[in-house]
Amino acid sequence: MLKDIDHILISEEKIKEEVSKLGKELSQIYKDKNPLLICTLKGSAVFYADLIRSMDIPLELEFIRTSSYGNGTNSSKNIQMDAKGVVDLKNRHVILVEDIIDTGNTLKFLKEFFYSVGVADFKTCVLLNKPSRREVEIEADYICFKVPDEFVVGYGLDFAQKYRNLPFIGVLKEKVYKK
Ligand code: IMP
Ligand code: MG
Repeated sequence: MLKDIDHILISEEKIKEEVSKLGKELSQIYKDKNPLLICTLKGSAVFYADLIRSMDIPLELEFIRTSSYGNGTNSSKNIQMDAKGVVDLKNRHVILVEDIIDTGNTLKFLKEFFYSVGVADFKTCVLLNKPSRREVEIEADYICFKVPDEFVVGYGLDFAQKYRNLPFIGVLKEKVYKK
C-alpha cells in the first residue's frame, strides 16, 4: 500500500494535534448543548472517532452514509444519502463531520437537508478543505487543514475503497489512478 503513495502531505502527529485542538474548541462552544455529532460514512469514520474522543462534554452520535464519487477521482453532483434510522433531528444542535470539502456539492446537499428537518442549529466540520475545486459557494464552519488540488488518501479517505487505514494523509501516485 505504501508503495502507491507519492508523498505524505499531513503527518499522523500533525493530524492528532489539529483534531485535538478542534475537539477542545467544540467542547467549549457546545458545553450544555448536548450536540449530535453526525458522521458521514465512510470517509469521516477515522476523523470522527478521534474527534469525539478529544471532546469532554456530553454528546450523542449518529451516522449517515453519503456518496458522490464512483471509483474515480472526480466528484459528481449526484449525491446519494442514506439517513435511515437516524434519531429525530428537530431542535437538535447538529455538528456534521465530513472528511473533505472539494467541489462543495455534498456539503450543500446535506446543509439543505438538515435545515429542512428543523434542526436548532447546524454546523459543519471538515478535516480537509480543497478550495481550488469549489463549484458551489459554500464553506465549512470548522476546518483542520487546507490542501492543494491533489487527490489525497488515508485517515479515512479512499481511492476505490482502498487506503482508508493509512494513519496519515498522503498523495497518491498518479500512475495508480491513471491506470
Ligand atoms: P464534494 O462533494 O466534491 O465536496 O466531495 C465529496 C466527497 O468526495 C468527499 O466527502 C470525499 O469522500 C470525496 N473526495 C473529494 N476529494 C477527495 C480526495 O482528494 N480524496 C479522496 N476523496 C475525496
Ligand atoms: Mg465522503
